[in-house]
Amino acid sequence: MAKDKTIFTCNECGGTSARWMGKCPSCNAWNSLIESASEPAATGKNRFGSVHASLAPTSEVLPLSQIEAADFERHPTGIDELDRVLGGGMVEGGVVLIGGDPGIGKSTLLLQAVDALQRSGMNTLYVTGEESGAQVAMRSRRLGLPDSQVPVLPEIQLEKILHTLQARQPNIAIIDSIQTVYSDQLTSAPGSVAQVRECAAHLTRTAKATGTSIVLVGHVTKEGALAGPRVLEHMVDTVLYFEGDTHSNFRLIRAIKNRFGAVNEIGVFAMTEKGLKGVSNPSAIFLSQHSEPVPGSCVMVTLEGTRPLLVEIQALVDSGGPSPRRLSVGLDRDRLAMLLAVLHRHAGVACMDQDVFVNAVGGVRISEPAADLAVMLAITSSLRGKALPKGFIAFGEVGLAGEVRPAPRGQDRLKEAAKLGYTTAIIPKANAPKTAIPGMQVHAVERIEEAMSVVRELD
Ligand code: TYD
Ligand code: MG
Repeated sequence: MAKDKTIFTCNECGGTSARWMGKCPSCNAWNSLIESASEPAATGKNRFGSVHASLAPTSEVLPLSQIEAADFERHPTGIDELDRVLGGGMVEGGVVLIGGDPGIGKSTLLLQAVDALQRSGMNTLYVTGEESGAQVAMRSRRLGLPDSQVPVLPEIQLEKILHTLQARQPNIAIIDSIQTVYSDQLTSAPGSVAQVRECAAHLTRTAKATGTSIVLVGHVTKEGALAGPRVLEHMVDTVLYFEGDTHSNFRLIRAIKNRFGAVNEIGVFAMTEKGLKGVSNPSAIFLSQHSEPVPGSCVMVTLEGTRPLLVEIQALVDSGGPSPRRLSVGLDRDRLAMLLAVLHRHAGVACMDQDVFVNAVGGVRISEPAADLAVMLAITSSLRGKALPKGFIAFGEVGLAGEVRPAPRGQDRLKEAAKLGYTTAIIPKANAPKTAIPGMQVHAVERIEEAMSVVRELD
């Protein structure tokens, strides 16, 4: 049974109920009530009557023009690739949520960052709920930081963590991880949505009130979402995700949301024996090194942050059973089904009775539609058993009517490919460069059929 301190809040409409119900009494959504700690003010006689005292204005109301737009105080971590995704460093009072698969390197990166900050004279705190102090110490030795002065607090109870934060007032605090923290105000188990949400809310409030920057480490479920709390993403200022498969050495950190910087900015790291090292020139790491071109492979230039990245898209089309499979790794599966339909209708390429697998090499996830053309060319190449020419790249979105639509910043993509020695490109007409790019033969197309006939000419 819940203690009487708790209420149940609807995830959909924010309505509350004193006891748990299957259906929200306010908005009738099913299964949306989540236990949460009640606000002290809400325990009075009625919703408004009892809170008169606390409704007294505490801040002045001012027109925007009279409010000083002070820039945020930033603390660069000195790890360039991390600072890049953060938008220049940790922001005073800012809360960062960093998610990723287990073992991908969250704790490693944060320990490196917090040690660098401590060395630069900041006051830091590393709260570990996942591992013992000894395990964190072992990691710091492994990272070549045996003399690290970072204060470590092995603790999982929220109230004790808040107390330490109040007492020490660090500039930066790491909570590794938010799923292990629990509040004794709630009866639900640590890691439950209610606990995670409540604890994150308390920590966020503390960050804003004290100016401490807080980093929350979050686990990711099998489906790739941060466990439970999509709600967390609303609460925090910055959401970063680790990408990359744990089998390769490369790791990508992507900013999904950033109130203090650009979204979709990417930081690239290599996992080494001594922790994560930034890769400052990452353009060509997501290519498999074939000595000669192979069928089913097409290189694309993706540009989701500010830096273009060359990524190899691989496809395998193989005769399937009565219900052929469509599988994709790193690319959207629904979009794959759509592209196959467009290929069939507009380019006469049929894969109806074939299994189709596509993969973005190196564990990188590509969400931009500019991958369409490369996916379709890789599929056709696999189906025909014919490799695309050496030094070939493609990018462009493909619509349901078979039209090839422009990708943002096409020139930058082409220039990056040319810089890395690529010589032939199929791109959307609207991205065609006004002046020739030295060493690059560009075929600008308006429709998918046109792209297919260019490929046949290049054979
Ligand atoms: P970790 O930071 O513990 O992952 P997370 O906190 O995201 O679960 O990363 C652990 C992996 O990284 C582990 O498999 C060992 C490897 N590793 C290295 O390769 N080099 C190193 O210097 C360190 C510290 C870890
Ligand atoms: Mg960890």
